[in-house]
Amino acid sequence: MSRSVLVTGGNRGIGLAIATAFAEAGDKVAITYRSGEPPAGFLAVRCDITDTEQVEQAYKEVEAAHGPVEVLVANAGVTKDQLLMRMSEEDFTSVVETNLTGTFRVVKRANRAMLRARKGRVVLISSVVGLLGSAGQANYAASKAGLVGFARSLARELGSRNITFNVVAPGFVDTDMTRTLTDEQRAGIVSQVPLGRYAQPSEIAAAVRFLASDEASYITGAVIPVDGGLGMGH
Ligand SMILES: NC(=O)c1ccc[n+]([C@@H]2O[C@H](COP(=O)([O-])OP(=O)(O)OC[C@H]3O[C@@H](n4cnc5c(N)ncnc54)[C@H](OP(=O)(O)O)[C@@H]3O)[C@@H](O)[C@H]2O)c1
Repeated sequence: MSRSVLVTGGNRGIGLAIATAFAEAGDKVAITYRSGEPPAGFLAVRCDITDTEQVEQAYKEVEAAHGPVEVLVANAGVTKDQLLMRMSEEDFTSVVETNLTGTFRVVKRANRAMLRARKGRVVLISSVVGLLGSAGQANYAASKAGLVGFARSLARELGSRNITFNVVAPGFVDTDMTRTLTDEQRAGIVSQVPLGRYAQPSEIAAAVRFLASDEASYITGAVIPVDGGLGMGH
């Protein structure tokens, strides 16, 4: 396979593992990054997904180098945890702006070419927390739950155009995002996970690559948990 694949936030963490998985399968992979030195081995385009102009510019660069995006993985996301009574409006809206509205921006732009090609694969990275809830993460959980309704609506809207929209809902994954937790918090989380450990980013990447593969051609509107059993039944 040598498809044009774009992974937002592909410069580190889960996104980097996803980009690596596609590259290993022979795809042409572009990643977005915001600052610093992006990892080697990919077409790296600078892009903050909260800025429509930067999203447009990033797509132009990817299209010029790799052709229209055939597989989009909307992975970029942030947390700003706080209990409700201490959560400012900015804490709430900035997380929704990145995780949900930012995803809307990159998906909408990708669909222009996918509609023309009458095929495409879109995978959104949500979280177990979007379905299970999490004290102190009302903003994050709302944004991640929103991705489910977003993907399922688009699955209905664009299924006839052979574009699939699926959601991967990771549990706790060993990345910068979770390294800020204390040992006590980590132990508390692990005690709730049937598999008794955090996920490695590559374990999330495997599910994403599958959803973009030919084997997954009849899967759309699905929410695939990759959470060690944490969210069972949700
Ligand atoms: N780690 C977990 O346990 C876990 C669990 C469930 C779901 N998730 C989700 O998985 C995704 C990746 O998480 P991670 O653990 O790999 O997190 P991470 O290590 O903190 O990386 C976050 C990525 O998102 C990018 N990003 C953030 N805001 C952005 C913006 N406005 N524009 C463009 N890129 C932006 C970051 O880019 P910069 O390097 O430029 O900051 C970085 O590449 C997120 O959507 C997260 O919510 C993570």
